[in-house]
Amino acid sequence: MIIQSVKEMQHQADEWRRAGKTIALVPTMGYLHDGHTSLMRIAAEKSDCVVTSIYVNPTQFGPKEDFSSYPRDLEHDKKMAYENGTDVLFVPANDEMYIKPVTVVHVKELTEGLCGASRPWHFDGVTTVVTKLFNIVKPHLAVFGQKDFQQARIIEKMVQDLNMDVEIVLAPIVRELDGLAMSSRNKYLSPTERKEALVLSQSLEIAKSAVKAGERDVEKLLNKLKTHIGAAEHASIDYVEIVDSENLKPVTTITGNINVMLAVYISTTRLIDNCFIEV
Ligand code: PAJ
Repeated sequence: MIIQSVKEMQHQADEWRRAGKTIALVPTMGYLHDGHTSLMRIAAEKSDCVVTSIYVNPTQFGPKEDFSSYPRDLEHDKKMAYENGTDVLFVPANDEMYIKPVTVVHVKELTEGLCGASRPWHFDGVTTVVTKLFNIVKPHLAVFGQKDFQQARIIEKMVQDLNMDVEIVLAPIVRELDGLAMSSRNKYLSPTERKEALVLSQSLEIAKSAVKAGERDVEKLLNKLKTHIGAAEHASIDYVEIVDSENLKPVTTITGNINVMLAVYISTTRLIDNCFIEV
């Protein structure tokens, strides 16, 4: 079933809750791939009713970014969603979601580095729309992908700070067979760029092996990764960082659990990837 109206979605959520059903939300911007459907399957395992939202949220895109060209394909999305445990697709129109808003949800600190440094508007757009989706869908739990690790951490902190009664579930990154993390933006890559995009997942493997072999010096490790990425003709680095997995602050020596965080342009397409390394 598709619901487009905010009021109708809230009404459906109330009905489910009255009937004692648990609700899971999978927020997406559509153009669904197997990364998104893995989130739906986790949601279906953990709850009675799964709502997948599809909304290309204008407030998280910068003025020169790809909001208008962001890929959209509702027919394809419907099939993917219903085949993977979604009960309701919530697909609101822009004029349903934003009526001259003057309210923003802002999470401090965690939003400042990494993607927040190069896209300073981005996370306010994300936390505000996710708060709205929580108020509309009234979920008991919501599933987010580790693919957007900083986003997931920010949402966990927002939920904790604002006492939102929603459990946040973090789902592993789903990759293509050759290692490329699935992303709606992979569609922008030409065949040559698609090959070069492998430098991201390869760099994560290089980092894992080096740490396993005993490397603890972050500068040395970062240089290794930057050299590898730099060898791809169309790659330019937005950031390559090693951060503490909890507070996302850069570390200089590896002493505890870390995440290797990457954002790399392949020509004009900006790709992100990351991995968790337990030390
Ligand atoms: P979108 O990029 O469509 O991603 C929706 C969800 O799918 C996010 O939680 C993301 O981390 C997850 N995801 C994307 N690729 C994945 C992969 N390869 N493996 C596992 N999970 C993956 O993230 C957003 O939309 C938006 O910012 C949103 C949260 C919907 C707010 O507008």
